[in-house]
Amino acid sequence: MQLCVALDLPTASENMQLAESLAGYDNLWMKVGFRSYIRDGRAFIDTLKQINPHFRIFLDLKLYDIPNTMADAAEEIALLGVDMFNIHASAGAVAMRTVMERLGQQTERPLVLAVTALTSFDEAGFASIYGVGIDQKAGEFAKMSYENGLDGVVSSAFESRAIKAATDETFLTLCPGIRPFGEDAGDQQRVATLEVARTEQVDFPVIGRPIYRDPDPAAKVRRILEAIQQEQGLQSR
Ligand code: C5P
Repeated sequence: MQLCVALDLPTASENMQLAESLAGYDNLWMKVGFRSYIRDGRAFIDTLKQINPHFRIFLDLKLYDIPNTMADAAEEIALLGVDMFNIHASAGAVAMRTVMERLGQQTERPLVLAVTALTSFDEAGFASIYGVGIDQKAGEFAKMSYENGLDGVVSSAFESRAIKAATDETFLTLCPGIRPFGEDAGDQQRVATLEVARTEQVDFPVIGRPIYRDPDPAAKVRRILEAIQQEQGLQSR
Protein backbone atom coordinates (compact mmCIF):
# COMPACT_ATOMS: atom_id res chain seq x y z
CA MET A 1 0.00 0.00 0.00
CA GLN A 2 1.19 3.50 -0.80
CA LEU A 3 -0.28 6.41 1.11
CA CYS A 4 -1.85 9.22 -0.90
CA VAL A 5 -2.42 12.44 1.04
CA ALA A 6 -5.34 14.60 -0.17
CA LEU A 7 -4.23 18.26 -0.26
CA ASP A 8 -7.76 19.58 0.23
CA LEU A 9 -7.12 22.66 2.37
CA PRO A 10 -8.82 25.90 1.28
CA THR A 11 -5.73 27.92 0.35
CA ALA A 12 -2.47 27.32 -1.49
CA SER A 13 -0.43 28.40 1.52
CA GLU A 14 -2.19 25.93 3.83
CA ASN A 15 -1.64 23.11 1.31
CA MET A 16 1.98 24.11 1.01
CA GLN A 17 2.41 24.18 4.77
CA LEU A 18 0.97 20.69 4.97
CA ALA A 19 3.30 19.45 2.20
CA GLU A 20 6.27 21.12 3.90
CA SER A 21 5.45 19.43 7.19
CA LEU A 22 5.61 16.11 5.31
CA ALA A 23 8.81 16.90 3.39
CA GLY A 24 10.77 14.34 5.41
CA TYR A 25 8.87 11.43 3.85
CA ASP A 26 10.07 10.25 0.46
CA ASN A 27 7.42 7.66 -0.20
CA LEU A 28 4.25 9.76 -0.28
CA TRP A 29 1.75 10.49 -3.00
CA MET A 30 0.13 13.93 -2.99
CA LYS A 31 -3.37 14.32 -4.40
CA VAL A 32 -4.04 17.66 -6.10
CA GLY A 33 -7.71 18.19 -6.89
CA PHE A 34 -9.91 20.57 -8.88
CA ARG A 35 -9.94 23.43 -6.44
CA SER A 36 -6.25 23.58 -5.92
CA TYR A 37 -5.33 22.97 -9.57
CA ILE A 38 -7.81 25.53 -10.91
CA ARG A 39 -6.58 28.14 -8.45
CA ASP A 40 -2.88 27.38 -8.16
CA GLY A 41 -2.17 25.59 -11.46
CA ARG A 42 1.12 24.24 -12.63
CA ALA A 43 3.08 26.43 -10.22
CA PHE A 44 1.68 24.44 -7.31
CA ILE A 45 2.77 21.13 -8.87
CA ASP A 46 6.25 22.56 -9.37
CA THR A 47 6.32 23.79 -5.76
CA LEU A 48 5.41 20.34 -4.48
CA LYS A 49 8.29 18.84 -6.45
CA GLN A 50 10.60 21.48 -5.00
CA ILE A 51 9.46 20.70 -1.46
CA ASN A 52 10.45 17.07 -2.03
CA PRO A 53 11.46 15.81 -5.50
CA HIS A 54 10.46 12.30 -4.39
CA PHE A 55 6.84 13.26 -3.78
CA ARG A 56 4.69 11.60 -6.40
CA ILE A 57 1.73 13.57 -7.64
CA PHE A 58 -1.77 12.39 -8.43
CA LEU A 59 -3.73 14.99 -10.39
CA ASP A 60 -7.38 14.29 -9.60
CA LEU A 61 -9.18 16.07 -12.46
CA LYS A 62 -11.50 13.21 -13.57
CA LEU A 63 -11.47 13.96 -17.30
CA TYR A 64 -14.72 13.47 -19.22
CA ASP A 65 -15.17 14.68 -22.81
CA ILE A 66 -15.01 13.39 -26.37
CA PRO A 67 -12.08 11.00 -26.92
CA ASN A 68 -9.84 13.37 -28.87
CA THR A 69 -10.29 16.20 -26.35
CA MET A 70 -9.53 13.81 -23.51
CA ALA A 71 -6.38 12.60 -25.27
CA ASP A 72 -5.29 16.23 -25.83
CA ALA A 73 -5.77 16.93 -22.12
CA ALA A 74 -3.98 13.71 -21.14
CA GLU A 75 -1.01 14.72 -23.24
CA GLU A 76 -0.84 18.12 -21.53
CA ILE A 77 -1.17 16.48 -18.10
CA ALA A 78 1.74 14.17 -18.90
CA LEU A 79 3.83 17.24 -19.80
CA LEU A 80 3.20 18.64 -16.31
CA GLY A 81 5.34 15.82 -14.96
CA VAL A 82 2.65 14.35 -12.69
CA ASP A 83 2.82 10.65 -11.87
CA MET A 84 -0.86 9.70 -12.02
CA PHE A 85 -4.19 11.19 -13.18
CA ASN A 86 -7.73 9.97 -13.72
CA ILE A 87 -10.60 9.95 -16.18
CA HIS A 88 -14.25 8.99 -15.86
CA ALA A 89 -14.86 5.38 -16.93
CA SER A 90 -18.27 6.46 -18.24
CA ALA A 91 -16.48 8.38 -21.02
CA GLY A 92 -16.29 4.90 -22.60
CA ALA A 93 -13.96 2.38 -24.20
CA VAL A 94 -13.04 4.53 -27.22
CA ALA A 95 -12.04 7.42 -24.97
CA MET A 96 -9.93 5.06 -22.85
CA ARG A 97 -8.15 3.63 -25.88
CA THR A 98 -7.58 7.05 -27.44
CA VAL A 99 -6.06 8.39 -24.22
CA MET A 100 -3.80 5.36 -23.75
CA GLU A 101 -2.69 5.34 -27.39
CA ARG A 102 -1.76 9.01 -27.20
CA LEU A 103 0.18 8.52 -23.97
CA GLY A 104 1.82 5.41 -25.37
CA GLN A 105 3.78 7.63 -27.74
CA GLN A 106 5.70 9.03 -24.75
CA THR A 107 8.71 7.33 -23.23
CA GLU A 108 7.48 7.81 -19.68
CA ARG A 109 3.80 8.23 -19.04
CA PRO A 110 1.80 8.82 -15.87
CA LEU A 111 -0.41 6.06 -14.47
CA VAL A 112 -4.02 6.41 -15.63
CA LEU A 113 -6.95 5.41 -13.43
CA ALA A 114 -10.68 5.46 -14.17
CA VAL A 115 -13.34 6.59 -11.73
CA THR A 116 -15.97 3.84 -11.53
CA ALA A 117 -18.81 5.25 -9.38
CA LEU A 118 -18.63 8.55 -7.54
CA THR A 119 -19.11 7.80 -3.85
CA SER A 120 -21.61 10.66 -3.55
CA PHE A 121 -24.23 8.60 -5.47
CA ASP A 122 -26.84 6.58 -3.66
CA GLU A 123 -28.34 3.59 -5.48
CA ALA A 124 -31.39 5.49 -6.78
CA GLY A 125 -29.38 8.45 -8.05
CA PHE A 126 -26.87 6.15 -9.72
CA ALA A 127 -29.56 3.98 -11.35
CA SER A 128 -31.34 7.06 -12.69
CA ILE A 129 -28.25 7.80 -14.79
CA TYR A 130 -26.65 4.41 -15.48
CA GLY A 131 -29.75 2.17 -15.38
CA VAL A 132 -28.17 -0.46 -13.11
CA GLY A 133 -26.85 -0.80 -9.55
CA ILE A 134 -23.52 0.61 -8.35
CA ASP A 135 -21.81 -2.75 -7.72
CA GLN A 136 -22.67 -4.13 -11.13
CA LYS A 137 -21.66 -1.02 -13.04
CA ALA A 138 -18.48 -0.49 -11.01
CA GLY A 139 -17.45 -4.06 -11.91
CA GLU A 140 -18.25 -3.49 -15.60
CA PHE A 141 -16.34 -0.20 -15.64
CA ALA A 142 -13.34 -1.84 -13.97
CA LYS A 143 -13.26 -4.61 -16.60
CA MET A 144 -13.61 -2.07 -19.41
CA SER A 145 -10.74 -0.03 -17.96
CA TYR A 146 -8.56 -3.12 -17.67
CA GLU A 147 -9.34 -4.31 -21.20
CA ASN A 148 -8.53 -0.91 -22.65
CA GLY A 149 -5.10 -0.61 -21.08
CA LEU A 150 -5.65 1.60 -18.05
CA ASP A 151 -3.55 1.01 -14.95
CA GLY A 152 -6.36 0.85 -12.41
CA VAL A 153 -9.51 2.39 -11.00
CA VAL A 154 -10.77 4.67 -8.27
CA SER A 155 -13.25 2.73 -6.18
CA SER A 156 -14.44 2.22 -2.65
CA ALA A 157 -12.19 -0.02 -0.55
CA PHE A 158 -15.04 -2.48 -0.33
CA GLU A 159 -14.99 -3.11 -4.10
CA SER A 160 -11.21 -3.42 -4.43
CA ARG A 161 -10.89 -7.21 -3.96
CA ALA A 162 -13.72 -8.03 -6.37
CA ILE A 163 -12.21 -5.69 -8.96
CA LYS A 164 -8.87 -7.46 -8.74
CA ALA A 165 -10.58 -10.84 -8.94
CA ALA A 166 -12.41 -9.75 -12.11
CA THR A 167 -9.29 -8.24 -13.71
CA ASP A 168 -5.78 -8.89 -12.44
CA GLU A 169 -3.98 -8.63 -9.10
CA THR A 170 -1.69 -5.97 -10.54
CA PHE A 171 -4.62 -3.79 -11.66
CA LEU A 172 -4.42 -0.86 -9.24
CA THR A 173 -7.13 0.31 -6.85
CA LEU A 174 -7.07 3.78 -5.35
CA CYS A 175 -9.62 4.17 -2.59
CA PRO A 176 -10.81 7.28 -0.75
CA GLY A 177 -12.95 7.09 2.37
CA ILE A 178 -10.16 5.64 4.51
CA ARG A 179 -10.22 6.31 8.23
CA PRO A 180 -6.90 4.74 9.24
CA PHE A 181 -7.73 4.09 12.87
CA GLY A 182 -11.52 4.47 12.76
CA GLU A 183 -11.64 8.29 12.93
CA ASP A 184 -14.78 10.36 12.29
CA ALA A 185 -16.28 9.51 8.88
CA GLY A 186 -17.40 13.10 8.11
CA ASP A 187 -19.52 13.01 4.92
CA GLN A 188 -18.13 9.67 3.70
CA GLN A 189 -20.74 6.91 3.63
CA ARG A 190 -18.69 3.74 3.73
CA VAL A 191 -15.34 4.13 5.44
CA ALA A 192 -12.59 1.55 5.81
CA THR A 193 -9.70 1.34 8.28
CA LEU A 194 -6.16 0.52 7.13
CA GLU A 195 -6.72 -3.03 8.32
CA VAL A 196 -9.75 -3.34 6.03
CA ALA A 197 -7.77 -1.69 3.22
CA ARG A 198 -5.17 -4.46 3.56
CA THR A 199 -7.68 -7.29 3.54
CA GLU A 200 -9.43 -5.69 0.56
CA GLN A 201 -6.07 -5.40 -1.29
CA VAL A 202 -6.18 -1.61 -1.70
CA ASP A 203 -3.07 -0.26 -3.44
CA PHE A 204 -3.51 3.46 -2.68
CA PRO A 205 -5.47 4.54 0.40
CA VAL A 206 -6.38 8.23 -0.07
CA ILE A 207 -6.54 10.11 3.22
CA GLY A 208 -7.43 13.76 3.71
CA ARG A 209 -9.17 15.00 6.83
CA PRO A 210 -7.72 12.43 9.28
CA ILE A 211 -4.31 13.87 8.37
CA TYR A 212 -4.84 17.61 7.85
CA ARG A 213 -7.32 18.00 10.70
CA ASP A 214 -4.90 16.33 13.10
CA PRO A 215 -3.04 18.82 15.34
CA ASP A 216 0.21 17.18 14.22
CA PRO A 217 -0.18 15.97 10.61
CA ALA A 218 3.45 14.81 10.32
CA ALA A 219 3.12 12.62 13.41
CA LYS A 220 -0.16 11.26 12.07
CA VAL A 221 1.47 10.37 8.75
CA ARG A 222 4.29 8.63 10.61
CA ARG A 223 1.73 6.52 12.50
CA ILE A 224 -0.08 5.69 9.27
CA LEU A 225 3.14 4.71 7.48
CA GLU A 226 4.12 2.49 10.42
CA ALA A 227 0.70 0.87 10.37
CA ILE A 228 0.96 0.31 6.60
CA GLN A 229 4.33 -1.38 7.12
CA GLN A 230 2.84 -3.62 9.77
CA GLU A 231 -0.13 -4.44 7.57
CA GLN A 232 2.20 -5.27 4.70
CA GLY A 233 4.08 -7.65 6.98
CA LEU A 234 0.78 -9.36 7.72
CA GLN A 235 -0.10 -9.47 4.03
CA SER A 236 3.13 -11.17 2.97
CA ARG A 237 2.80 -13.93 5.60
O1 C5P B 1 -10.99 13.88 3.83
P1 C5P B 1 -11.15 12.55 3.18
O2 C5P B 1 -10.13 11.53 3.66
O3 C5P B 1 -12.57 12.04 3.24
O4 C5P B 1 -10.79 12.85 1.65
C1 C5P B 1 -11.00 11.96 0.62
C2 C5P B 1 -10.55 12.57 -0.68
O5 C5P B 1 -10.91 11.70 -1.74
C3 C5P B 1 -11.20 13.90 -1.03
O6 C5P B 1 -10.23 14.65 -1.78
C4 C5P B 1 -12.37 13.53 -1.91
O7 C5P B 1 -12.72 14.55 -2.82
C5 C5P B 1 -11.77 12.36 -2.67
N1 C5P B 1 -12.72 11.43 -3.28
C6 C5P B 1 -13.73 10.80 -2.56
N2 C5P B 1 -14.57 9.91 -3.21
C7 C5P B 1 -14.42 9.68 -4.54
C8 C5P B 1 -13.39 10.31 -5.25
C9 C5P B 1 -12.56 11.19 -4.58
O8 C5P B 1 -13.85 10.98 -1.36
N3 C5P B 1 -15.18 8.80 -5.15
